Amino acid sequence: MILYGAGGHAKVIYDCLLSKGIHLAGVFDDNPDNTTFFDKTVFNNYHPDILRREKLIISIGSNKLRFNLSRNIKHDFGIVSHLSSWISERAEIAHGSMVLAKAIIQPEVRIGRHVIVNSGAIIEHDTAVDDFVHVGPGTVVCGGVTIGPGTFIGANATILPGVSLGAWSVIGAGAVVLDHVKNGSTIAGNPGKQII
Ligand SMILES: CC(C)(COP(=O)(O)OP(=O)(O)OC[C@H]1O[C@@H](n2cnc3c(N)ncnc32)[C@H](O)[C@@H]1OP(=O)(O)O)[C@@H](O)C(=O)NCCC(=O)NCCS
Repeated sequence: MILYGAGGHAKVIYDCLLSKGIHLAGVFDDNPDNTTFFDKTVFNNYHPDILRREKLIISIGSNKLRFNLSRNIKHDFGIVSHLSSWISERAEIAHGSMVLAKAIIQPEVRIGRHVIVNSGAIIEHDTAVDDFVHVGPGTVVCGGVTIGPGTFIGANATILPGVSLGAWSVIGAGAVVLDHVKNGSTIAGNPGKQII
């Protein structure tokens, strides 16, 4: 596996690989100041021929950056899950996505491409999570929820059953979201209210 991104989120993804004994073959990062990642040399210029048979994960927390980078990367994308996560056999996860330590994904959940389900998050049954979403640590997404592309949900939020979160919306840490959320809006608090 190759990682693209050598920052904080990449450290967590590396732990996921280690938990399953998956070899980290290389790391790309566009920032020339990032020259090493643990014992690995970092390639500062992406090239599709470098380690081209390896699968790649964009190990960057920002949804926008993962979205932008994914359009120019030619490697095949992999899927990463920590050994301690639990993923139903009847859930679907698309390429590029990451399921971190102790996250739970229940039956009939569909996870899109380049999604992060962060540590300890729970995605309940019959929920659809679109591409480039980040579900923060400890967040609970109840059953039958729909999450639009690019949406960021902060740590320890709760999304009530059947709610739809619009595209590229932001849910604050600890928010309790009771109602549908419009595209691009920011919701915070309990009960969740639009703040931006
Ligand atoms: C919601 C959030 C994105 C807003 O960030 P922001 O646009 O920079 O907003 P500000 O910090 O300027 O706050 C705007 C207002 O919303 C309030 N607010 C911000 N975040 C809040 C939250 N999570 N819950 C309740 N109120 C919140 C602020 O107190 C402020 O209120 P005021 O105008 O009365 O002073 C951010 O605060 C947040 O919760 N991020 C989640 C971080 C996280 O969980 N990361 C996980 C990484 S793995």
